[in-house]
Amino acid sequence: MSDWYTTFANSGVGSTLVTQLGLPRPAVLRRYEPGQPLLPGPAVLGTAGEGRLRDTVDAVLRDAGVTVLTADADERPAAVVLDATGVTGPAQLAAAHDLLAPAVKRLRPTGRVVVLGDPPAEAGTPAQAAARQALEGLVRSLAKELRGGSTANLLLVPEGAEASVAGPLRFFLSGRSAYVDGQVLPVSPADVPAGADDERPLAGRVAVVTGAARGIGAAIARVLSRDGAHVVAVDVPAAGEALAEVANEVGGTALQLDITAPDAPRRLVGHLRERHGGVDVVVHNAGITRDKLLVNMDAARWNAVMAVNLQAQLDLTRALLDADGVLRPGARVVSVSSQSGIAGNRGQTNYAASKAGVIGMVRAWAPEFAARGATVNAVAPGFIVTEMTARMPLSTREVGARLNSLQQGGLPVDVAEAIAWLAQPGAAGVNGQVLRVCGQSLLGA
Ligand SMILES: NC(=O)c1ccc[n+]([C@@H]2O[C@H](COP(=O)([O-])OP(=O)(O)OC[C@H]3O[C@@H](n4cnc5c(N)ncnc54)[C@H](O)[C@@H]3O)[C@@H](O)[C@H]2O)c1
Repeated sequence: MSDWYTTFANSGVGSTLVTQLGLPRPAVLRRYEPGQPLLPGPAVLGTAGEGRLRDTVDAVLRDAGVTVLTADADERPAAVVLDATGVTGPAQLAAAHDLLAPAVKRLRPTGRVVVLGDPPAEAGTPAQAAARQALEGLVRSLAKELRGGSTANLLLVPEGAEASVAGPLRFFLSGRSAYVDGQVLPVSPADVPAGADDERPLAGRVAVVTGAARGIGAAIARVLSRDGAHVVAVDVPAAGEALAEVANEVGGTALQLDITAPDAPRRLVGHLRERHGGVDVVVHNAGITRDKLLVNMDAARWNAVMAVNLQAQLDLTRALLDADGVLRPGARVVSVSSQSGIAGNRGQTNYAASKAGVIGMVRAWAPEFAARGATVNAVAPGFIVTEMTARMPLSTREVGARLNSLQQGGLPVDVAEAIAWLAQPGAAGVNGQVLRVCGQSLLGA
Protein backbone atom coordinates (compact mmCIF):
# COMPACT_ATOMS: atom_id res chain seq x y z
CA MET A 1 0.00 0.00 0.00
CA SER A 2 1.31 3.48 -0.75
CA ASP A 3 0.13 7.05 -1.01
CA TRP A 4 -1.34 6.85 -4.54
CA TYR A 5 -1.20 10.61 -5.16
CA THR A 6 2.53 10.87 -4.31
CA THR A 7 3.26 7.94 -6.62
CA PHE A 8 1.11 9.48 -9.37
CA ALA A 9 2.48 13.03 -8.98
CA ASN A 10 6.03 11.69 -9.34
CA SER A 11 5.29 9.57 -12.43
CA GLY A 12 6.02 10.90 -15.95
CA VAL A 13 2.48 11.80 -16.99
CA GLY A 14 1.35 12.62 -13.44
CA SER A 15 4.17 15.07 -12.86
CA THR A 16 3.26 17.03 -16.03
CA LEU A 17 -0.42 17.01 -15.14
CA VAL A 18 -0.09 18.19 -11.52
CA THR A 19 2.32 20.95 -12.62
CA GLN A 20 -0.15 22.16 -15.27
CA LEU A 21 -3.04 22.09 -12.80
CA GLY A 22 -1.00 23.87 -10.12
CA LEU A 23 -1.49 20.95 -7.70
CA PRO A 24 1.02 20.08 -4.97
CA ARG A 25 3.74 17.62 -5.93
CA PRO A 26 4.68 15.77 -2.75
CA ALA A 27 8.28 14.57 -2.72
CA VAL A 28 9.39 10.96 -2.56
CA LEU A 29 10.76 10.78 0.99
CA ARG A 30 14.21 9.48 1.91
CA ARG A 31 13.41 6.29 3.83
CA TYR A 32 15.93 4.11 5.64
CA GLU A 33 17.45 1.06 3.97
CA PRO A 34 20.04 -1.11 5.74
CA GLY A 35 23.53 -0.12 4.69
CA GLN A 36 22.45 3.39 3.72
CA PRO A 37 24.79 6.18 4.92
CA LEU A 38 23.40 8.43 7.66
CA LEU A 39 23.19 11.30 5.15
CA PRO A 40 23.47 11.37 1.35
CA GLY A 41 25.87 14.36 1.49
CA PRO A 42 27.74 16.78 3.76
CA ALA A 43 26.33 18.73 6.69
CA VAL A 44 26.65 22.33 7.82
CA LEU A 45 27.24 22.69 11.55
CA GLY A 46 27.01 26.00 13.37
CA THR A 47 26.18 27.52 16.74
CA ALA A 48 24.14 30.28 18.30
CA GLY A 49 24.95 31.07 21.92
CA GLU A 50 27.50 28.97 23.78
CA GLY A 51 26.89 25.85 21.68
CA ARG A 52 28.08 23.41 24.32
CA LEU A 53 27.12 20.37 22.21
CA ARG A 54 29.14 21.38 19.17
CA ASP A 55 31.90 18.81 19.75
CA THR A 56 29.33 16.09 20.46
CA VAL A 57 27.49 16.84 17.22
CA ASP A 58 30.74 17.09 15.27
CA ALA A 59 31.77 13.64 16.56
CA VAL A 60 28.39 12.08 15.62
CA LEU A 61 28.67 13.44 12.08
CA ARG A 62 32.31 12.43 11.59
CA ASP A 63 31.75 8.96 13.08
CA ALA A 64 29.04 8.48 10.48
CA GLY A 65 31.42 9.51 7.70
CA VAL A 66 29.66 12.84 7.10
CA THR A 67 31.81 15.75 5.85
CA VAL A 68 31.25 18.83 8.03
CA LEU A 69 31.06 22.07 6.04
CA THR A 70 31.32 25.67 7.15
CA ALA A 71 28.23 27.81 6.56
CA ASP A 72 29.79 29.58 3.55
CA ALA A 73 30.95 26.45 1.69
CA ASP A 74 29.81 26.12 -1.93
CA GLU A 75 28.76 22.48 -1.68
CA ARG A 76 25.05 21.86 -1.14
CA PRO A 77 24.43 20.33 2.29
CA ALA A 78 22.20 17.33 2.98
CA ALA A 79 21.69 18.59 6.55
CA VAL A 80 22.07 21.70 8.67
CA VAL A 81 22.64 21.26 12.40
CA LEU A 82 22.36 24.31 14.64
CA ASP A 83 23.58 23.97 18.21
CA ALA A 84 21.71 26.74 20.02
CA THR A 85 22.34 25.46 23.55
CA GLY A 86 23.36 28.20 25.93
CA VAL A 87 21.47 31.08 24.30
CA THR A 88 20.94 33.71 26.98
CA GLY A 89 18.58 36.10 25.19
CA PRO A 90 16.82 36.90 21.92
CA ALA A 91 19.78 38.88 20.50
CA GLN A 92 21.78 35.67 20.19
CA LEU A 93 19.14 34.20 17.90
CA ALA A 94 20.44 36.47 15.13
CA ALA A 95 23.27 33.96 14.80
CA ALA A 96 20.65 31.23 14.20
CA HIS A 97 19.18 33.25 11.36
CA ASP A 98 22.64 34.03 9.94
CA LEU A 99 23.52 30.33 9.81
CA LEU A 100 20.22 28.90 8.69
CA ALA A 101 19.15 31.34 5.96
CA PRO A 102 22.00 30.70 3.48
CA ALA A 103 22.45 27.02 4.41
CA VAL A 104 18.77 26.14 4.09
CA LYS A 105 18.62 27.92 0.74
CA ARG A 106 21.17 25.40 -0.57
CA LEU A 107 19.72 22.37 1.26
CA ARG A 108 19.40 19.29 -0.94
CA PRO A 109 16.01 17.57 -1.40
CA THR A 110 15.10 15.23 1.49
CA GLY A 111 17.45 17.33 3.64
CA ARG A 112 17.41 17.60 7.39
CA VAL A 113 17.51 20.59 9.71
CA VAL A 114 18.14 19.69 13.35
CA VAL A 115 18.30 22.35 16.06
CA LEU A 116 19.54 21.61 19.58
CA GLY A 117 18.40 23.82 22.44
CA ASP A 118 17.92 23.84 26.20
CA PRO A 119 14.54 23.14 27.85
CA PRO A 120 12.72 26.49 28.29
CA ALA A 121 11.21 25.36 31.61
CA GLU A 122 14.67 25.16 33.17
CA ALA A 123 15.79 28.67 32.15
CA GLY A 124 17.25 31.01 34.79
CA THR A 125 15.81 34.28 33.47
CA PRO A 126 12.79 35.32 31.39
CA ALA A 127 15.10 36.44 28.57
CA GLN A 128 16.78 33.04 28.53
CA ALA A 129 13.42 31.26 28.58
CA ALA A 130 12.22 33.50 25.75
CA ALA A 131 15.22 32.68 23.57
CA ARG A 132 14.92 28.95 24.28
CA GLN A 133 11.21 28.90 23.53
CA ALA A 134 11.77 31.01 20.40
CA LEU A 135 13.64 28.07 18.87
CA GLU A 136 10.40 26.10 18.88
CA GLY A 137 8.60 28.74 16.80
CA LEU A 138 11.57 28.94 14.47
CA VAL A 139 11.77 25.18 13.89
CA ARG A 140 8.03 24.63 13.53
CA SER A 141 7.81 27.45 10.97
CA LEU A 142 10.89 26.39 9.05
CA ALA A 143 9.48 22.85 8.82
CA LYS A 144 6.44 24.35 7.10
CA GLU A 145 8.63 26.28 4.66
CA LEU A 146 10.88 23.39 3.63
CA ARG A 147 10.08 21.55 0.40
CA GLY A 148 11.39 18.49 -1.39
CA GLY A 149 10.73 16.07 1.48
CA SER A 150 13.05 17.95 3.87
CA THR A 151 12.27 18.09 7.59
CA ALA A 152 13.16 20.26 10.60
CA ASN A 153 13.08 19.09 14.23
CA LEU A 154 14.23 20.38 17.62
CA LEU A 155 16.00 18.42 20.35
CA LEU A 156 15.82 19.81 23.89
CA VAL A 157 18.89 18.81 25.89
CA PRO A 158 19.28 19.77 29.55
CA GLU A 159 22.74 20.12 31.07
CA GLY A 160 24.06 16.70 32.01
CA ALA A 161 22.24 14.91 29.18
CA GLU A 162 25.08 15.17 26.65
CA ALA A 163 25.36 11.37 26.40
CA SER A 164 21.69 11.18 25.36
CA VAL A 165 22.16 13.35 22.25
CA ALA A 166 23.79 11.04 19.70
CA GLY A 167 20.90 8.58 19.29
CA PRO A 168 18.15 11.16 18.72
CA LEU A 169 20.42 13.28 16.50
CA ARG A 170 21.19 10.28 14.30
CA PHE A 171 17.48 9.42 14.15
CA PHE A 172 16.48 12.90 12.98
CA LEU A 173 19.25 12.97 10.35
CA SER A 174 18.55 9.45 9.06
CA GLY A 175 15.89 8.04 6.76
CA ARG A 176 14.25 6.44 9.81
CA SER A 177 12.59 9.78 10.58
CA ALA A 178 11.24 10.37 7.04
CA TYR A 179 7.70 11.27 8.24
CA VAL A 180 8.71 12.97 11.54
CA ASP A 181 8.63 16.70 10.94
CA GLY A 182 8.25 19.90 12.99
CA GLN A 183 8.66 18.02 16.28
CA VAL A 184 10.20 19.00 19.61
CA LEU A 185 11.78 16.06 21.44
CA PRO A 186 13.10 16.47 24.99
CA VAL A 187 15.85 14.11 26.15
CA SER A 188 17.00 13.45 29.70
CA PRO A 189 20.23 12.20 31.25
CA ALA A 190 20.63 8.43 30.88
CA ASP A 191 23.24 5.70 30.73
CA VAL A 192 23.62 5.15 27.02
CA PRO A 193 25.62 2.06 26.03
CA ALA A 194 28.56 2.75 23.70
CA GLY A 195 28.39 1.67 20.06
CA ALA A 196 24.63 1.50 20.37
CA ASP A 197 23.33 2.21 16.88
CA ASP A 198 24.88 -0.25 14.46
CA GLU A 199 23.09 -2.14 11.69
CA ARG A 200 21.35 -4.65 13.98
CA PRO A 201 20.79 -2.63 17.15
CA LEU A 202 18.22 -5.10 18.52
CA ALA A 203 20.23 -8.29 18.00
CA GLY A 204 19.49 -10.84 20.71
CA ARG A 205 16.39 -9.02 21.98
CA VAL A 206 12.87 -10.35 22.29
CA ALA A 207 10.09 -8.03 21.16
CA VAL A 208 6.31 -8.39 21.54
CA VAL A 209 4.05 -6.60 19.07
CA THR A 210 0.28 -6.60 19.58
CA GLY A 211 -2.03 -6.28 16.58
CA ALA A 212 0.77 -7.66 14.38
CA ALA A 213 -1.36 -9.50 11.81
CA ARG A 214 -1.64 -6.52 9.47
CA GLY A 215 -1.22 -2.79 8.93
CA ILE A 216 1.13 -0.84 11.16
CA GLY A 217 1.65 -3.83 13.51
CA ALA A 218 2.91 -6.05 10.69
CA ALA A 219 5.29 -3.26 9.61
CA ILE A 220 6.56 -2.95 13.19
CA ALA A 221 7.21 -6.71 13.31
CA ARG A 222 9.18 -6.52 10.05
CA VAL A 223 11.32 -3.56 11.10
CA LEU A 224 12.07 -4.94 14.58
CA SER A 225 13.07 -8.24 13.00
CA ARG A 226 15.23 -6.48 10.38
CA ASP A 227 16.96 -4.70 13.27
CA GLY A 228 17.77 -8.06 14.88
CA ALA A 229 14.93 -8.79 17.34
CA HIS A 230 13.05 -12.06 17.73
CA VAL A 231 9.41 -10.98 17.37
CA VAL A 232 6.48 -12.46 19.27
CA ALA A 233 3.56 -11.43 17.07
CA VAL A 234 0.24 -11.15 18.93
CA ASP A 235 -3.24 -10.83 17.44
CA VAL A 236 -6.79 -12.15 17.91
CA PRO A 237 -7.51 -15.79 16.96
CA ALA A 238 -9.75 -14.58 14.10
CA ALA A 239 -6.65 -13.07 12.46
CA GLY A 240 -4.68 -16.28 13.05
CA GLU A 241 -3.83 -17.03 9.41
CA ALA A 242 -2.49 -13.54 8.65
CA LEU A 243 -0.68 -13.56 11.99
CA ALA A 244 1.08 -16.84 11.17
CA GLU A 245 2.16 -15.41 7.80
CA VAL A 246 3.71 -12.34 9.43
CA ALA A 247 5.39 -14.43 12.14
CA ASN A 248 6.85 -16.81 9.53
CA GLU A 249 8.01 -13.98 7.33
CA VAL A 250 9.99 -12.39 10.19
CA GLY A 251 11.21 -15.69 11.64
CA GLY A 252 9.27 -14.97 14.83
CA THR A 253 6.55 -16.61 16.90
CA ALA A 254 2.78 -16.17 16.59
CA LEU A 255 0.72 -15.88 19.78
CA GLN A 256 -3.05 -15.84 19.30
CA LEU A 257 -4.39 -13.73 22.11
CA ASP A 258 -7.27 -11.31 22.56
CA ILE A 259 -5.51 -8.66 24.65
CA THR A 260 -8.80 -7.77 26.36
CA ALA A 261 -9.41 -11.31 27.67
CA PRO A 262 -9.27 -11.51 31.48
CA ASP A 263 -6.42 -14.05 31.32
CA ALA A 264 -4.44 -12.15 28.65
CA PRO A 265 -1.86 -10.64 31.05
CA ARG A 266 -1.22 -14.03 32.67
CA ARG A 267 -0.94 -15.80 29.31
CA LEU A 268 1.41 -13.20 27.84
CA VAL A 269 3.69 -13.19 30.88
CA GLY A 270 3.67 -17.01 30.96
CA HIS A 271 4.53 -17.27 27.26
CA LEU A 272 7.42 -14.81 27.55
CA ARG A 273 8.81 -16.41 30.68
CA GLU A 274 8.60 -20.02 29.44
CA ARG A 275 9.64 -19.53 25.81
CA HIS A 276 12.10 -16.66 26.05
CA GLY A 277 12.96 -16.13 29.71
CA GLY A 278 11.75 -12.54 29.46
CA VAL A 279 11.16 -9.64 27.09
CA ASP A 280 13.12 -6.54 26.03
CA VAL A 281 10.68 -4.63 23.83
CA VAL A 282 6.90 -4.36 24.13
CA VAL A 283 4.92 -2.55 21.45
CA HIS A 284 1.28 -1.89 22.31
CA ASN A 285 -0.02 -1.42 18.78
CA ALA A 286 -3.40 -3.23 18.67
CA GLY A 287 -6.19 -0.70 18.31
CA ILE A 288 -9.72 -0.40 17.02
CA THR A 289 -12.13 2.37 16.01
CA ARG A 290 -15.91 2.38 16.56
CA ASP A 291 -16.75 5.88 15.30
CA LYS A 292 -20.03 7.68 16.04
CA LEU A 293 -20.92 11.14 17.24
CA LEU A 294 -21.01 11.06 21.03
CA VAL A 295 -24.76 11.60 21.13
CA ASN A 296 -25.29 8.51 18.96
CA MET A 297 -22.66 6.34 20.57
CA ASP A 298 -23.87 3.27 22.44
CA ALA A 299 -22.05 1.89 25.46
CA ALA A 300 -20.76 -1.10 23.48
CA ARG A 301 -18.82 1.15 21.09
CA TRP A 302 -17.40 3.19 23.95
CA ASN A 303 -16.42 0.17 26.00
CA ALA A 304 -14.86 -1.84 23.17
CA VAL A 305 -12.52 0.98 22.18
CA MET A 306 -11.48 1.75 25.75
CA ALA A 307 -10.87 -1.95 26.46
CA VAL A 308 -8.56 -2.60 23.47
CA ASN A 309 -6.84 0.76 23.12
CA LEU A 310 -6.25 1.67 26.75
CA GLN A 311 -7.23 -0.76 29.50
CA ALA A 312 -5.40 -3.69 27.88
CA GLN A 313 -2.21 -1.59 27.64
CA LEU A 314 -2.50 -0.71 31.34
CA ASP A 315 -3.17 -4.31 32.38
CA LEU A 316 -0.48 -5.93 30.23
CA THR A 317 2.18 -3.40 31.24
CA ARG A 318 1.31 -3.72 34.93
CA ALA A 319 1.54 -7.51 34.72
CA LEU A 320 4.92 -7.32 32.98
CA LEU A 321 6.25 -4.87 35.58
CA ASP A 322 5.03 -7.09 38.42
CA ALA A 323 6.27 -10.40 37.01
CA ASP A 324 9.68 -10.84 38.61
CA GLY A 325 12.47 -10.61 36.04
CA VAL A 326 10.27 -10.86 32.94
CA LEU A 327 10.74 -7.24 31.84
CA ARG A 328 14.51 -7.25 31.36
CA PRO A 329 16.80 -4.41 32.45
CA GLY A 330 16.88 -1.69 29.78
CA ALA A 331 13.44 -2.76 28.54
CA ARG A 332 11.48 -0.55 26.16
CA VAL A 333 7.73 -0.15 26.05
CA VAL A 334 6.26 1.81 23.16
CA SER A 335 2.53 2.56 22.97
CA VAL A 336 0.76 3.56 19.81
CA SER A 337 -1.32 6.65 20.47
CA SER A 338 -2.78 8.83 17.71
CA GLN A 339 -3.01 12.36 16.47
CA SER A 340 -6.72 12.09 17.38
CA GLY A 341 -5.64 11.82 21.01
CA ILE A 342 -3.87 15.17 20.66
CA ALA A 343 -6.16 17.13 18.34
CA GLY A 344 -9.50 15.41 18.88
CA ASN A 345 -11.54 14.20 15.94
CA ARG A 346 -15.23 14.48 15.15
CA GLY A 347 -16.92 11.13 15.62
CA GLN A 348 -14.06 9.76 17.72
CA THR A 349 -14.73 10.76 21.34
CA ASN A 350 -14.11 7.16 22.41
CA TYR A 351 -11.02 6.65 20.25
CA ALA A 352 -9.49 10.06 21.09
CA ALA A 353 -10.17 9.52 24.79
CA SER A 354 -8.36 6.17 24.65
CA LYS A 355 -5.42 7.57 22.69
CA ALA A 356 -5.07 10.63 24.94
CA GLY A 357 -5.22 8.20 27.86
CA VAL A 358 -2.20 6.39 26.42
CA ILE A 359 -0.25 9.66 26.55
CA GLY A 360 -1.20 10.18 30.20
CA MET A 361 -0.20 6.59 30.92
CA VAL A 362 3.33 6.77 29.48
CA ARG A 363 4.03 10.10 31.18
CA ALA A 364 2.94 8.73 34.55
CA TRP A 365 4.92 5.51 34.16
CA ALA A 366 8.18 7.15 33.03
CA PRO A 367 9.73 7.53 36.53
CA GLU A 368 9.05 3.88 37.43
CA PHE A 369 10.61 2.76 34.16
CA ALA A 370 13.59 5.12 34.59
CA ALA A 371 14.27 3.56 37.99
CA ARG A 372 14.72 0.21 36.19
CA GLY A 373 16.92 1.69 33.44
CA ALA A 374 13.95 1.18 31.11
CA THR A 375 11.82 3.60 29.08
CA VAL A 376 8.15 3.96 28.15
CA ASN A 377 7.09 6.24 25.32
CA ALA A 378 4.21 6.82 22.93
CA VAL A 379 4.22 7.28 19.20
CA ALA A 380 1.33 9.29 17.77
CA PRO A 381 0.79 8.58 14.07
CA GLY A 382 -0.96 11.13 11.90
CA PHE A 383 -2.55 10.01 8.67
CA ILE A 384 -1.08 6.62 7.76
CA VAL A 385 -2.08 4.69 4.64
CA THR A 386 -3.56 1.42 6.01
CA GLU A 387 -6.72 -0.68 5.84
CA MET A 388 -8.06 1.41 8.74
CA THR A 389 -7.76 4.66 6.78
CA ALA A 390 -8.74 3.01 3.46
CA ARG A 391 -12.25 2.63 4.93
CA MET A 392 -12.65 6.42 5.23
CA PRO A 393 -14.73 8.29 2.63
CA LEU A 394 -12.49 9.47 -0.25
CA SER A 395 -12.78 13.19 0.51
CA THR A 396 -11.98 12.79 4.23
CA ARG A 397 -9.10 10.52 3.33
CA GLU A 398 -7.59 12.92 0.81
CA VAL A 399 -7.88 15.90 3.17
CA GLY A 400 -6.23 13.83 5.91
CA ALA A 401 -3.40 12.80 3.63
CA ARG A 402 -2.61 16.30 2.28
CA LEU A 403 -2.96 18.51 5.39
CA ASN A 404 0.63 18.23 6.54
CA SER A 405 3.96 19.81 5.67
CA LEU A 406 5.05 16.83 3.56
CA GLN A 407 1.73 16.91 1.64
CA GLN A 408 1.29 13.13 1.81
CA GLY A 409 0.11 10.33 4.03
CA GLY A 410 2.72 8.36 5.94
CA LEU A 411 3.37 4.67 5.42
CA PRO A 412 3.16 1.98 8.13
CA VAL A 413 6.93 1.62 7.87
CA ASP A 414 7.35 5.26 8.98
CA VAL A 415 5.60 4.52 12.28
CA ALA A 416 7.53 1.26 12.57
CA GLU A 417 10.90 3.00 12.11
CA ALA A 418 10.13 5.49 14.90
CA ILE A 419 9.07 2.68 17.24
CA ALA A 420 12.08 0.51 16.39
CA TRP A 421 14.34 3.50 17.02
CA LEU A 422 12.77 4.10 20.46
CA ALA A 423 13.58 0.45 21.20
CA GLN A 424 17.28 0.98 20.41
CA PRO A 425 19.90 1.33 23.15
CA GLY A 426 20.78 4.80 21.78
CA ALA A 427 17.29 6.10 22.63
CA ALA A 428 17.84 5.53 26.37
CA GLY A 429 17.51 9.27 27.05
CA VAL A 430 13.98 9.47 25.66
CA ASN A 431 11.43 8.56 28.32
CA GLY A 432 7.80 9.50 28.95
CA GLN A 433 7.61 11.30 25.60
CA VAL A 434 5.13 11.40 22.73
CA LEU A 435 6.75 11.31 19.31
CA ARG A 436 4.41 12.32 16.53
CA VAL A 437 4.86 10.61 13.17
CA CYS A 438 2.57 12.88 11.21
CA GLY A 439 4.57 14.86 8.61
CA GLN A 440 3.82 17.93 10.78
CA SER A 441 0.08 17.55 10.43
CA LEU A 442 -1.84 20.78 10.76
CA LEU A 443 -4.23 18.99 13.11
CA GLY A 444 -3.37 19.50 16.76
CA ALA A 445 -0.09 21.19 15.82
N1 LIG B 1 -3.86 4.01 10.30
C1 LIG B 1 -3.71 5.23 10.84
O1 LIG B 1 -3.74 6.24 10.15
C2 LIG B 1 -3.49 5.37 12.32
C3 LIG B 1 -3.33 6.65 12.82
C4 LIG B 1 -3.11 6.82 14.18
C5 LIG B 1 -3.04 5.72 15.00
N2 LIG B 1 -3.20 4.48 14.51
C6 LIG B 1 -3.10 3.36 15.45
O2 LIG B 1 -2.13 2.44 14.99
C7 LIG B 1 -2.47 1.13 15.44
C8 LIG B 1 -2.52 0.18 14.26
O3 LIG B 1 -3.45 0.69 13.33
P1 LIG B 1 -3.71 0.03 11.89
O4 LIG B 1 -4.11 1.13 10.99
O5 LIG B 1 -2.57 -0.84 11.50
O6 LIG B 1 -5.02 -0.84 12.25
P2 LIG B 1 -5.53 -2.24 11.68
O7 LIG B 1 -6.99 -2.28 11.97
O8 LIG B 1 -5.08 -2.43 10.27
O9 LIG B 1 -4.77 -3.31 12.59
C9 LIG B 1 -5.02 -3.43 13.98
C10 LIG B 1 -4.71 -4.87 14.41
O10 LIG B 1 -5.02 -4.97 15.81
C11 LIG B 1 -5.66 -6.22 16.02
N3 LIG B 1 -6.51 -6.22 17.23
C12 LIG B 1 -7.67 -5.54 17.40
N4 LIG B 1 -8.21 -5.87 18.58
C13 LIG B 1 -7.36 -6.75 19.19
C14 LIG B 1 -7.39 -7.44 20.42
N5 LIG B 1 -8.41 -7.30 21.27
N6 LIG B 1 -6.36 -8.27 20.71
C15 LIG B 1 -5.33 -8.43 19.85
N7 LIG B 1 -5.26 -7.80 18.65
C16 LIG B 1 -6.27 -6.96 18.32
C17 LIG B 1 -6.50 -6.42 14.77
O11 LIG B 1 -6.89 -7.77 14.59
C18 LIG B 1 -5.55 -5.91 13.68
O12 LIG B 1 -4.73 -6.94 13.18
C19 LIG B 1 -3.79 1.26 16.19
O13 LIG B 1 -3.54 1.39 17.57
C20 LIG B 1 -4.36 2.55 15.63
O14 LIG B 1 -5.25 3.13 16.50
C21 LIG B 1 -3.43 4.27 13.18
